[in-house]
Amino acid sequence: MRRAPTNADFFGDMANPASGPAHHPASGNDRLDRLSDYPFTRLAALLAGITPRANAEPTIMSIGEPQHAPPALIAETLAANAHLWGKYPPLAGTPDFRAAVGDWLTRRFALPAGSFDADNMVLPVAGTREALFLTALLAVPERRAGGTPAVLIPNPFYAVYEGGAVLAGAEPVFLSSTAATGFLPDLDALTPDLLERTALLYLCTPSNPQGAAADAAYLGRAIALARRYGFVLAVDECYSEIYLDRPPVGALQVAAAMETGGGLWDNVLVFHSLSKRSNAAGLRSGFVAGDPALIARFARLRSYANAGTPLPALAAAAALWRDEAHVEENRRLYRDKFAAAEAALGGRFGYRRPDGGFFLWLDVGDGESAARRLWDEGAIRVLPGAYLSGSAPGQPNPGASFIRVALVHDADVVARACAAIARILG
Ligand SMILES: Cc1ncc(COP(=O)(O)O)c(C=O)c1O
Repeated sequence: MRRAPTNADFFGDMANPASGPAHHPASGNDRLDRLSDYPFTRLAALLAGITPRANAEPTIMSIGEPQHAPPALIAETLAANAHLWGKYPPLAGTPDFRAAVGDWLTRRFALPAGSFDADNMVLPVAGTREALFLTALLAVPERRAGGTPAVLIPNPFYAVYEGGAVLAGAEPVFLSSTAATGFLPDLDALTPDLLERTALLYLCTPSNPQGAAADAAYLGRAIALARRYGFVLAVDECYSEIYLDRPPVGALQVAAAMETGGGLWDNVLVFHSLSKRSNAAGLRSGFVAGDPALIARFARLRSYANAGTPLPALAAAAALWRDEAHVEENRRLYRDKFAAAEAALGGRFGYRRPDGGFFLWLDVGDGESAARRLWDEGAIRVLPGAYLSGSAPGQPNPGASFIRVALVHDADVVARACAAIARILG
C-alpha cells in the first residue's frame, strides 16, 4: 500500500526545524501591545459567563448605533446609482459629494459665503473612525523640537484616538475631562513644555461619552494654541447634529470668525459622520474638512492607506447631506428619549442632560460592577466608563465610577430600561 506523502517528501530538510534554518515567529509591531483591548472586547470578557436572569430580550445600550430606521433616500440613491458599482471610486470623492458637503458646512456653520473651497477642503472617509485614526499618522512627525511627539487626548475618550497616537509612535497624553473641567480638557492647564512637543490635539464636541459641547471661546483658544505651537487640531464633531435645543458651534465656524496672521483654516480639521446624524452606521460614510494644506497631505496619505468610498455610497451620502428633514425628525425622537430618561433617572447618578449626542454618563460608584449587575438582573448591556478612559500617571481613572448608556432605541424601550437601571442600581 502506498503511504500518504509527508511534508518531508515535498520540502526535504526544510520541513525539519532541527536541521533547517532558524525559525522565529513573526514578532510584529510591539506598539500594538501597548494598547488595551478595545472597549467592546473588554465588555464581552466582563459579561462572559453571565446569563441574564431577567427573562427579557436583551437591551443593547453599550454601542452608539442608532436603531432608528435609516432614511429611504439611501436605498433609493444606491439603486439609482447601481451602474457605478463596477468603478474604482476616486479617493477625493466626486465634485457632487464635495459640493453637497461644502453647502452643508456653509449652511450649518454660517461660514462666510464663498469662503469654503469644497474641492480643496473636503475628503470623503469610510466612517470617521478610520480618518480619526489616520490623522495621527498625518500629524505625528519623527521628532518634535521639544522632545517625543505628544498627542493630547481628552480623558475619557473615543478609543481610536489612543490607537492612532500609539501606533503613530507618539506619547498619548490624557487630559482629564471631568465635571470639574466642564467635561472638556482644561486648555489653560497645558504647560508650554508639553505644547512645544504636541503634534496633535484631539477634541470631541459634543463629547463622547459626556455630551459636553465646547463653546466658541473654548474652540478659539484651542485653534490659537494649535497655531502658536504648530500642531494639528482634530475636532471630532460626529455628534454635532444630535442636540436638544441649541446647535453646538463647530471649529470651522469659529476659525472663520478669528483674526489670523495666516490662512483662515490653518491647523484645523473637523470630522463629520452620517452614522449618527442619519442613522446610517452601515453606510460607512463621513468626511474630514478644513485646512487645505492638511487635506492635500491627507489625500497623499490616503492614496497609500485607503480604499475610496464606492460611488453609489458617495451619491447616497451627498443626498443625505442635502436633506435636513430626517435629521430634524431624529432630534425629535432623541428629545422624547431624554425626557423619558430624565423622568426615570433625574436627580440620580449625577444625571445631566448632555448638550449633544445620545449618551447618558452616569456616576454609579463602580462602573464595572454596575454593568455586570445590569446585565445579570436586567438584560441591559451598558459600557463601564473605565473602558473609555485611561489613567494618567498618579491620577485616578476619571471614568471608573461611570457607565455609558446609549439611548439608541425607541422612547418606550429607553423608558423601560432607564426605570430598570434606577431600580437595579438605586
Ligand atoms: C466620538 C466618536 N467619533 C467617531 C466615531 C466613528 O463613527 P463612524 O466611523 O461611524 O463615522 C464614533 C463612533 O462611535 C464616535 O463615538
